[in-house]
Amino acid sequence: MRAGGAASGALDSAVPPVHVSAMTDYRHPIAVAPMMDWTDRYCRVFHRRLTRRALLYTEMIVADAILHGDRRRLLAYSDEEHPVALQLGGSEPKKLAEAARIAAGYGYDEINLNVGCPSDRVRAGTFGACLMRTPELVGDCVAAMTAAVTLPVTVKCRIGVDDQDPEASLDALAGATIAAGAKAIWVHARKAWLKGLSPRENRDVPPLDYGRVYRLKQDRPGTFIGINGGIGTLGEAGTHLRHVDGVMIGRAAYQTPAMLAQVDRTFYGEPGPAEGDLRKAVADHLPRIEAWLADGRRLGAIVRPLLGLFHGAPGARAWRQILTVEASRPGAGVGVVERALAALDRTAKSSETGVSASAAA
Ligand SMILES: Cc1cc2nc3c(=O)[nH]c(=O)nc-3n(C[C@H](O)[C@H](O)[C@H](O)COP(=O)(O)O)c2cc1C
Repeated sequence: MRAGGAASGALDSAVPPVHVSAMTDYRHPIAVAPMMDWTDRYCRVFHRRLTRRALLYTEMIVADAILHGDRRRLLAYSDEEHPVALQLGGSEPKKLAEAARIAAGYGYDEINLNVGCPSDRVRAGTFGACLMRTPELVGDCVAAMTAAVTLPVTVKCRIGVDDQDPEASLDALAGATIAAGAKAIWVHARKAWLKGLSPRENRDVPPLDYGRVYRLKQDRPGTFIGINGGIGTLGEAGTHLRHVDGVMIGRAAYQTPAMLAQVDRTFYGEPGPAEGDLRKAVADHLPRIEAWLADGRRLGAIVRPLLGLFHGAPGARAWRQILTVEASRPGAGVGVVERALAALDRTAKSSETGVSASAAA
């Protein structure tokens, strides 16, 4: 099953990576990670302008919020977001099962359980990475969720927490969740240190251990194993896909979203909607932005996922600056995005001809 070839950082596009777990019907070589305050609807709809195929995750929603809160607002999404997975937080099997059942009614493609988030509430032991310590409970949660829905139920976890031995902790978590019917395990390939690190530090400080995730795949060949953490290019993703079934991209998806425009071609053998033409992705998005504005939404939040789109290209700074400053003004409209595009074009032209952008303007 394993694809051959040198484990270099650059992806040889002539040799598409072989899918290791051809025996499972859950096939998502590329996913965009759940990220609170980032992977909202604005972000997911924009990502769909770049890739039709990558699996998109929602931000985590706590099961209690679905049971007792404004679930229509929390669970609403747009048709074009498919395939889209809802991530749940919680540790009570009954509540998670009920939240999953409700979410399934909204047409999500997958329900994922968060076993990796080192948030403040972890101290209260209510959800997230602390559950790495109680694999049986996670198994009970997954069993209750799989009994409640026909959708794939998946798990996103760490390799361990604090002083756990990652060989034992990840194996125990995988064993319990696979036995309970989990379709896939996405592993953020580092521990969470629950004592002493902030949630943000916990995304960078504990060292990455990709080898541990590769070993999990070797031990569980029939289960979809996805890897996450510090993966910044599609070349790196291709390298990981020689060892595991899926790659989950987090921060790089908002720092350098242009990489998503190559995902469909590289990993699905299909043309992407904005391949080679990121301006087209923006132009296609304008009517959507207008519709959201007409609905009373704020331009600043709508364009945030677009800020890094031209990262590294001439004019990227002007693009980002106009969107950041002007979009946050009261009453800001779609003209801000058009001005940002025009500034980008001017800078690109002037960098070709050697004339300064301000002179060209
Ligand atoms: C702003 C932000 C919010 C996040 N929120 C969640 C979340 O809601 N659920 C979750 O499982 N992980 C969350 N994460 C962790 C990411 O899903 C991912 O595991 C982590 O960023 C490592 O991947 P990366 O190095 O590719 O960014 C968040 C990360 C960031 C940066």
